[in-house]
Amino acid sequence: MQDIKTQRLDATDDGISQAATLLSSGALVAFPTETVYGLGADARNSLAVAKVFEAKGRPHFNPLIVHVGSADEAKRFVIWSNKAQLLADAFWPGPLTLVLPLKAGHELSPLVTADLPTLAIRVPAQASAQAILSAFDGPIAAPSANPSGRISPTTCAHVIAGLEGKIAAVLDNGPCEIGLESSIVSLLANPTLLREGGVTSEQINHVLGAPLETALKDEIVSAPGQLASHYAPSAPLRLNVTSALPGEKMLGFGDIDGDFNLSPSGNLAQAAARLFDYLHQLDSTPQPIAVAPIPSSGLGRAINDRLARAAAPR
Ligand code: TXA
Ligand code: MG
Repeated sequence: MQDIKTQRLDATDDGISQAATLLSSGALVAFPTETVYGLGADARNSLAVAKVFEAKGRPHFNPLIVHVGSADEAKRFVIWSNKAQLLADAFWPGPLTLVLPLKAGHELSPLVTADLPTLAIRVPAQASAQAILSAFDGPIAAPSANPSGRISPTTCAHVIAGLEGKIAAVLDNGPCEIGLESSIVSLLANPTLLREGGVTSEQINHVLGAPLETALKDEIVSAPGQLASHYAPSAPLRLNVTSALPGEKMLGFGDIDGDFNLSPSGNLAQAAARLFDYLHQLDSTPQPIAVAPIPSSGLGRAINDRLARAAAPR
């Protein structure tokens, strides 16, 4: 793929309207959401969607999430249900992706769904993501804006580091507030958690009034993107350690300090928001990384999931 010049757009009215115009022309635009930066393309335009797979080096069998401005718009593309309404009322706009059956006449590119009869869809909350959706006035397919297999970007600089020359533009609106990807819940059968993320399963269970089933990681046939080593930095990671070995860099949490500390006060939301940025920074040196234990409750499960993937053999 020949390199193109990647424009950096500000989150002003002008920047938003340039982003929407580029998307309408079939170009790729990265933009912030509350979770991570997404690599956006017009979800109805197969040429545009094909460029997403090319720019990321993503296998074509791995489907993309479609972003829309509201639950009402989502209903144009998927077969809605009572449970979808419950979860949308509670968590949209926000860091939850729902997997639902595709609706006839949806007009999305078959590349988006990797030809599956289902669609992953979400309504992002972040203001500039909402502004782009409203200016573009259509569905935007957007995986995380990183080369396939690398750490997701939570700043404009991360996007540039991974995809400069491969995408038309990136809209800069500072660091992402949550810093972990959306939680993915399939409503094809009993509600099933496919990926831990920005909404905790405790919160989802509370709304559903029953515990989610889980089908995380390698068990998922319908979401081959959940490969074990999906979030990998190039340096090896050692998890749940209380002190670094000579030559290791230490990623601390709470009282266990290090070269970086995800949250000295032990706050999991703060740790989530910092995780990918610290991994990006630690990844810029070849030194192995030792990581302090993180409690496995609330957002801690999503954090531990990303760390386990980052540490997985590849
Ligand atoms: O927070 C997020 O979800 C970010 C922002 C940009 O919205 N997006 C994101 O996209 O994380 P991506 O492509 O990195 O991860 C999407 C995941 C993949 O693991 C993919 O396999 C899964 O969603 N997925 C997509 N369509 C699916 C479907 N129909 N059924 C099951 N899983 C699906
Ligand atoms: Mg991703």
